[in-house]
Amino acid sequence: MSAGSPKTRTPTVAVVGATGLVGETVLRVLAERAFPVGELRALGSAKSAGTRVRFRGHELVVREASPEALEGADFVFFAATGELSRALAPAAAAAGAVVVDKSSTWRMDASVPLVVPEINPGALAEHRGIVACPNCTTIGLVMALEPLRRAAGLVHVAVTTLQAASGAGREGIEELTSAARASNVFPRMLAGNVIPQCEKLLANDYTSEEEKLRDETRKILGLPELPVTMTCVRVPVAIGHSAAVLVETERALAPREALAALRAFPGLCVGEGSEYAAPLEVAGRDEVFVGRVRSDPTHPRRLWLWCVIDNLRKGAATNAVQIAEELLAQS
Ligand SMILES: NC(=O)c1ccc[n+]([C@@H]2O[C@H](COP(=O)([O-])OP(=O)(O)OC[C@H]3O[C@@H](n4cnc5c(N)ncnc54)[C@H](OP(=O)(O)O)[C@@H]3O)[C@@H](O)[C@H]2O)c1
Repeated sequence: MSAGSPKTRTPTVAVVGATGLVGETVLRVLAERAFPVGELRALGSAKSAGTRVRFRGHELVVREASPEALEGADFVFFAATGELSRALAPAAAAAGAVVVDKSSTWRMDASVPLVVPEINPGALAEHRGIVACPNCTTIGLVMALEPLRRAAGLVHVAVTTLQAASGAGREGIEELTSAARASNVFPRMLAGNVIPQCEKLLANDYTSEEEKLRDETRKILGLPELPVTMTCVRVPVAIGHSAAVLVETERALAPREALAALRAFPGLCVGEGSEYAAPLEVAGRDEVFVGRVRSDPTHPRRLWLWCVIDNLRKGAATNAVQIAEELLAQS
C-alpha cells in the first residue's frame, strides 16, 4: 500500500470507464461489498463528461479521465481501454495511488502482479502501484484449475470457451440485441450464430484472446511451462462465459475426489449430475460455477469439467474490488 493511503483515512476512489459495462459493475460491487469510499470519482471519455452515473443511491457527474482527475486518489480502477491505462496508470501509481487495471496492458509485465485473490494474494506484496486483473475467461479457468492443481498437480489443460457478447463491452451487447444485425464489433453476425474467433486473429492462427488465456493462466498459477491449449468461441449470450475443460493431472483423481477439492475451494459453486450451471443462471453471481465433472475413459488421469462465470462480476469488477480489499487488509 502506498504512503498516501493510510488505514486512518477513508480512501478516495476513482473509476475510469465508469460509464462502461465493467465500470458500472465496479460501482455496484463497491457499494454492495461496502468497500470504504470517502470520495468517488466517476471518469470517462470526453463524450460522456457531464453525464451521470449512480453510486450508493446518489448521482455522480462523470468527468473526463485525465492526470489531474486522478490526483490524490488512493485506488484507481481502470475499466476503459488498454491505451488509456498505459497513458494514465504509471503517473497515478507514482503519485501514490494503487491502480487496479482491467485491461490487458499490464498483465504480462513481469513487474506487475496478476491476481485472483483466492489463488495468489501473496503476489500483491510485490506490487509497485499497479495490479493487473486477469481476463474474464482466465479467471473462471484458473478458479477451477487451482483446487485440482493443489490436489493432484497439473500436466495438461485443453479448453474450449463459449463467450458472451458483453465480453466485448457495451457495443457487444448492443450488436447482439440490435435489430439491424450489422456486424461491426464481431467478425460475423452474432445473433443466432456461433463465431470461433474472440478478438484478433493472429499470424499463428490463434487469437489474441486465446493467447491471453494461455499466458495469464500460466502466470497466475506460477506454472510458466504448463501446456494450455484452447479455442475461444463467441456465442449469442448476453452475460456469462462458459468453458469445457479437459484437465490432465499428475496423480489420478477420481471425480468424487475432484468434487471434494473443488467444494473446499472458496468462490466456487460446485454441482453434480444435472446441477450444472448455465449462463442465464450465473449472470449477477460472484461465484465461479463448476459442473459436469467426469473422468475421461480414454485416459486414466484426465477429467472433464464445465465452468461458467459472470464475466462482468467475478470475471472483472468483483475480482478487481477483491484485489483492493486484499490490499487494504495487507496494509
Ligand atoms: N466486458 C467484459 O466482460 C470485460 C471483462 C474483463 C475485462 N474487460 C476489460 O475492461 C475494460 C472495459 O470494458 P467494458 O466491457 O466495460 O467496455 P465498454 O462497455 O465499452 O466501456 C468502455 C469504457 O471505457 C471508457 N473509455 C473509452 N475510451 C476512453 C478514453 N479515451 N478516455 C476515458 N474513458 C474512455 C468509456 O467511456 P465513454 O462511455 O465515455 O466512451 C466506457 O466507460 C476493457 O479494457 C476490457 O478489455 C472487460
